Amino acid sequence: MASPNSPKIHQIHDLTELSELALQLKNSLKKPSLLLLNGELGAGKTALTKKIANHFGFAENLIKSPSYSLINIYKNDHIQINHLDFYRLNGHDQFLLNELLEISVLPNALTIIEWPERLDLQALFSKVKQILQIDLSLKNQGENTFRQIEIHDKSN
Ligand SMILES: Nc1ncnc2c1ncn2[C@@H]1O[C@H](COP(=O)(O)OP(=O)(O)OP(=O)(O)O)[C@@H](O)[C@H]1O
Ligand SMILES: [Mg+2]
Repeated sequence: MASPNSPKIHQIHDLTELSELALQLKNSLKKPSLLLLNGELGAGKTALTKKIANHFGFAENLIKSPSYSLINIYKNDHIQINHLDFYRLNGHDQFLLNELLEISVLPNALTIIEWPERLDLQALFSKVKQILQIDLSLKNQGENTFRQIEIHDKSN
């Protein structure tokens, strides 16, 4: 039997399957929650974020990649989604980390970070209720291309 901490591995073939996975993630969320999205350029980190946000009532075309702004925030009565992308970060950014420490611990916060390894997030980990590390990768099987999405529960 799989131990509670073994990763959940999904093979995702299209945006419909991605949306189904996003719904599962939505339903298992324990706020304040932190999702760390790892994966190469184009792996589907922003696409997954759009699907999750959509299940929380935000139109997908409203959700823009924060590669330049570093951070985008979407709020409604139920949730505050903090979407960050550290791809363009050059070294440590204490100002950004301080802002993150404030907004990600709010009781209704869902914080989603692309390229999370580019900032030391250690200070954050003890302050949220749920930490999911999500590894996305593009796979080829003959003619078939799909995305493998591994979900590792790193919650305290
Ligand atoms: N599961 C999927 N099925 C089909 N297309 C997908 C899937 N996931 C992502 N895509 C498409 O792949 C392209 C790149 O995805 P996306 O922008 O989400 O990548 P990313 O990981 O956020 O990249 P970056 O590191 O540049 O931010 C988009 O056009 C997106 O619609
Ligand atoms: Mg992206």
